[in-house]
Amino acid sequence: MYETKLHQLVNNCLQECEINIGGEDNLFYTRFVANTSAIHFLYNELYQDRAAADFKVLISCIIAAYKSRSSILKAKDLAKEREGHWYLSNHITGMSLYVDKFCGNLENLEDKLGYFKKLGVNLLHLMPLMESPEGESDGGYAVSDFRKVDKKFGSTENLVELQQKMINEDMYLMLDVVLNHTSHKHEWAMKARAGDKCYQDYFYMYQDRTVPDEFEKTMPEIFPESSPGNFTWSDECKQWVMTVFHGYQWDLNYKNPEVFMEMLEVVFFYANHGVDILRIDAPAFIWKELGTTCQNLPKAHTILRLIKQCIEIATPGMALLGEAIVAPNEIMKYFGSGSFTSKECDFAYNATQMALQWDALATGNTKIMLAAQHELLQKPFGTSWITYVRCHDDIGLGYDDYMIRNAGFNPYEHRKFLKEYYSGSYNLSPASGALFSVNPKTQDARISGTLASLCGLEKAINSGDDSFIATSINKILLMQAHSLLLGGIPMLFYGDEAGYTNDYSYKNDPATSYDNRWMHRPIIDWTKNKKVDKEGTVEQQIFSGLQKLINIRKSYPAFGDFKNLTWVAAHNDHVAIYLRTFDEEKVYCLFNFSAETAYLSWDIFRQNGPASDSLVECISGKSYQLLSGAENIVLPAFKFYIMKSG
Ligand code: GLC
Repeated sequence: MYETKLHQLVNNCLQECEINIGGEDNLFYTRFVANTSAIHFLYNELYQDRAAADFKVLISCIIAAYKSRSSILKAKDLAKEREGHWYLSNHITGMSLYVDKFCGNLENLEDKLGYFKKLGVNLLHLMPLMESPEGESDGGYAVSDFRKVDKKFGSTENLVELQQKMINEDMYLMLDVVLNHTSHKHEWAMKARAGDKCYQDYFYMYQDRTVPDEFEKTMPEIFPESSPGNFTWSDECKQWVMTVFHGYQWDLNYKNPEVFMEMLEVVFFYANHGVDILRIDAPAFIWKELGTTCQNLPKAHTILRLIKQCIEIATPGMALLGEAIVAPNEIMKYFGSGSFTSKECDFAYNATQMALQWDALATGNTKIMLAAQHELLQKPFGTSWITYVRCHDDIGLGYDDYMIRNAGFNPYEHRKFLKEYYSGSYNLSPASGALFSVNPKTQDARISGTLASLCGLEKAINSGDDSFIATSINKILLMQAHSLLLGGIPMLFYGDEAGYTNDYSYKNDPATSYDNRWMHRPIIDWTKNKKVDKEGTVEQQIFSGLQKLINIRKSYPAFGDFKNLTWVAAHNDHVAIYLRTFDEEKVYCLFNFSAETAYLSWDIFRQNGPASDSLVECISGKSYQLLSGAENIVLPAFKFYIMKSG
């Protein structure tokens, strides 16, 4: 659509900034023209009563971001654009890690790139690196300076150096932007506390409890144990401040366009530091309205869409991941809807599937997992999941009650069992984890614990029982395989590749003792990690199992995420089977979540069109002839097969 005034405004700004629209900047110009109306529309949806001059500030911000983008990054943008949907590829495998806990600092991380390569990891999600006050940091998610690397990790120059090295090694970088809040030690919060009205408008601040009490009526609590309520009293400025997460994390007020502009500049700052995927922390919370839960509100989506369109113009090589850990029907909206379908976040975490895998592992039953798939398959083409078995956060059992009911279970009793199973309070459970954020009012709770401990390895090692250890390793690899091959970028969590069990030392440090998520955020001991090369060790078995899986995933385009996933009926509740396809390529993935051997019919390979006569199991390399439906394919307890048409 051509909008005379709007396009004149854009053209004038471009000319003022000496953009060469017919020459080297032509693609930028084309993208600008293509997105101008959408940006204007979205901006007005948020700030309709603002003057046109404000919109000009937005235009200038986009131009400035483009102008300061390096030629290397512009070339990378172009290469990604030519590849088309580069982030859907089966060639990307990620790992999330805390730099300090992994290897001390950013400089040391440069020397560890070989370790990632050996495993097959080529995308690094570096957990929050920006300045954050010691002792009140929420693992770096309470940021006091969005543009300065915290000195405990090194310097901003170290980050630049690492990023350049990663480009040379064909690796991708993912960083966080914490949009929802700042640390109470951020300059804006300090000024607000000192009484500066302009900065008080950056936050939600109230002199008495009237409005906070109204909000509290409908807002759930995020950390009911360690930080109950959603407001914190600031004695310095005598105001109640909205603090949805911890009391030291002050929620930003996006009703104020200044806040949006400040944070958009921050987003561009990361883009121009070479970030390939920007993880937007807690986007579900960024818009608040009285009388609502203040989560997943339509205007939170407007903000994300606006950011996405701006990025597409200035720094198009950066994809967006919305870290929304929300119900299945809400998560789809983060990929955009209506005319903005596939134009909001490029990625979301597949948190439902992650939790459902844990459900299947505890119960040995895949019915609930399968009952959820019709919703997850709604994800639009061109968007993708981050698939994972766990991350730095807790595991929430947030899938819908109806999914549990449809599978024939009672939701309350079922969740109670899972919580008891993983926290180890159920006697027969092999898992050692803990309940996180127990809410006595709602009985809600989430689960903490490392992959290995939740799969029984901690108890198995303590018992010294070799077959218990072997079963735990099988479970670990089963969980990883299911998540790695499903579609989307698999995001491993550091330490899991070497079988790290829970670290209970967090209890001794007042900065972490109130938050048991620290039990699954290990400090890497490189003597232990060296064992990944020593045949027969637990570390080696897990590491090499993962290595193989990553390799297999990279070998077949069917593992890319092109809406090419079909669930196959196993006719056995213990087993989940999905088929991945690409052109003529067909790969069947079979997972037995139970402690019993499964006997499956060969007809499963005939459900989805003509089957070839022979199949190869990719891990063992063994060939199979497709037999009649009356004969069985035997899948041992906690094992998986990756069967490719021969
Ligand atoms: C996200 C992070 C979590 C943090 C929260 C508040 O959910 O993953 O670790 O506590 O945001 O920033």
